[in-house]
Amino acid sequence: MKNGFRKRLFAGVLAAAFCCIMNGNGMMAAAETVSAQGTSDQGKAAYDYMVLVNKAHKLLDDWESNVVLKEAVNKWGETHLVEEKALEQFLKLQKECADEGIIIELDSTTRSVARQQELWDDWTIEKGEDYVKKYVAVPGYSEHHTGLAIDVCLEKDGRRIDDNDEMIAEKEIFAKVHEKLAKYGFILRYLDGKEAETGYSYEPWHFRYIDNPEIAKEIMDQGITLEEYLGETD
Ligand code: DAL
Ligand code: ZN
Repeated sequence: MKNGFRKRLFAGVLAAAFCCIMNGNGMMAAAETVSAQGTSDQGKAAYDYMVLVNKAHKLLDDWESNVVLKEAVNKWGETHLVEEKALEQFLKLQKECADEGIIIELDSTTRSVARQQELWDDWTIEKGEDYVKKYVAVPGYSEHHTGLAIDVCLEKDGRRIDDNDEMIAEKEIFAKVHEKLAKYGFILRYLDGKEAETGYSYEPWHFRYIDNPEIAKEIMDQGITLEEYLGETD
């Protein structure tokens, strides 16, 4: 190990230790773009943006300590943590939408396994187990643990729209937003008609950052799932 690298790694570990914060979702986040594992010399995160997390693929054990999260506050003052590049690109997507009169906002972003369990329990009481299985991942198996998933809500005529059924009914608005996703490196993760492949119902609000606009375009243009793109459909 070169001395310079050792110093940078030590500084990184210290920075991560002192700059960590907890958000409302109970997620630990590094406030600087330095993780305890260190980043590459180019400052690139050492994780795979194409990572597959679904009903058959659990979150990788070391993911949460590696991922670099940044804080963002939505228009209602709610604080969110999102992976740094995903957030940067989301803000650009949000601006392009706003320029066309479409207001999308951060609604649910990075969730700890404990927070996912709370959601699972609350939704089971409210909607019943059958509904929950269609819309909520088992804790440990949610893309929301990765920092790369963003659920948006809408603001229309001054009203926040975040109810699942109401959002599904906003076909025109979401069609326009979905057309822009790939340009910013996002895909729509839970497609209409692909419930068998993804294991979940259609979620027009759940955007997944993959950090590659070309691949995102290929996936979106073909109307396929990440499972299909990766050949992981078993
Ligand atoms: N709504 C998605 C499936 C999740 O809970 O991760
Ligand atoms: Zn989601």
